Amino acid sequence: LRTVVQKGLLAGELPIVTTNPNWLEEQAKKKMTRAGFEYIFGGAGESSTMDANRLAFRQWKIVPRVLKPTTPRDLSVTLFGHKYDVPVLMAPVGVNSLFHKDKEIGVAQACAALNVPFTMSTVAQTTIEDIAAAVPDSPKWFQLYWPSDEEITASLLKRAKDNGFTALVVTLDTWTLAWRPHDLDSANLPFLLGEGCANGFADPVVRRKFAEMSDGGTPEDNIVQASVYWIGEAFPGSSHSWGDIKMLKRYWDGPIILKGILSVEDAELAAEHGVDGIIVSNHGGRQLDGAVATLDVLPEIVDAVGSRLTVMMDSGIRTGADIVKALALGAKAVLVGRPVVYGLGINGKEGAEAVLAGLLADLDLTMGFAGAKRVADLKRSLLRRVKYPG
Ligand code: FNR
Repeated sequence: LRTVVQKGLLAGELPIVTTNPNWLEEQAKKKMTRAGFEYIFGGAGESSTMDANRLAFRQWKIVPRVLKPTTPRDLSVTLFGHKYDVPVLMAPVGVNSLFHKDKEIGVAQACAALNVPFTMSTVAQTTIEDIAAAVPDSPKWFQLYWPSDEEITASLLKRAKDNGFTALVVTLDTWTLAWRPHDLDSANLPFLLGEGCANGFADPVVRRKFAEMSDGGTPEDNIVQASVYWIGEAFPGSSHSWGDIKMLKRYWDGPIILKGILSVEDAELAAEHGVDGIIVSNHGGRQLDGAVATLDVLPEIVDAVGSRLTVMMDSGIRTGADIVKALALGAKAVLVGRPVVYGLGINGKEGAEAVLAGLLADLDLTMGFAGAKRVADLKRSLLRRVKYPG
């Protein structure tokens, strides 16, 4: 917090990129290509779930405390036996070279500079191996878009494990691409081709299988055909069911976290099938338009499975107060997507880092106002639910 204040308020150095959500969006729109901006900004359908994510945060208010010393504050949390300095993770976000040439490496380095765990997307435009080489010693999780092909799944998980990724996030709400008018209108899907498949094309099993189906061709020989093959694997339709979780366990002996859970029923099934954690997420309102806001279901999910599973959440986090609310309602940690990639789009690695630093400083300050010295002090009793008309 002190660094942010000294650099920003006192020296006027920081606000190249601030955490103000509206400012981020405006600047990103000015600086980025249309296709890049629209890909981050867009939600599914008429963006009603995106709106709901923000409205849900506004309907909870924090009751502050006074004359209660809260320094030094400890923002650390322990997840799956690892201690992390902060309760905030980078959400998996794919195709980052659409946003800035620093792409996923820039975001991973920004996270490393602040000890924020970086979650790498299956559809990153950087390979697992290159991320590991860029940030060898910092916390890294791997997000799986779960291929229908077991051999490819096993190969991706082996590469992640061999390269120091410690937890597996399996995204379940994106078995198919959604109806996203912004993407359709800005015709940005070609960016998914070619470089957009870098991580998939680097996979030895993907390469072998592609060669078998194309008479010895490499993905580079036929980018379009190979991209269609890889994207078909990453978004394979509804080809998996709960019973398949045991297959993942055969290839991954670390923590398994299911992302995209919004119902108590699915949270219960996750617990029954022996996973370690869930991320209550609607993919930032990018998949099912009309889906419930994550904050609106977080408490009931925590009540149902919180003693058996590590429950985390994302979708709509924009400020320190949002993080405090989510943690007070029982999330063990939160993930942040759009703000950081807007920062990347505006000013590369430095932009992503400024957004994250600002968010953490805001969180630190908000915890102080709420009378919390450590994350465990954030309890539901700190919050009040309000309903304003209109
Ligand atoms: C995403 N998200 C995402 N999720 C995932 O599991 N794998 C992925 O590759 C992507 N890609 C992606 C791209 C972009 C541009 C965005 C904005 C989001 C979803 C992401 O992990 C997270 O769930 C949301 O971003 C959280 O909502 P906010 O913080 O963006 O409101």
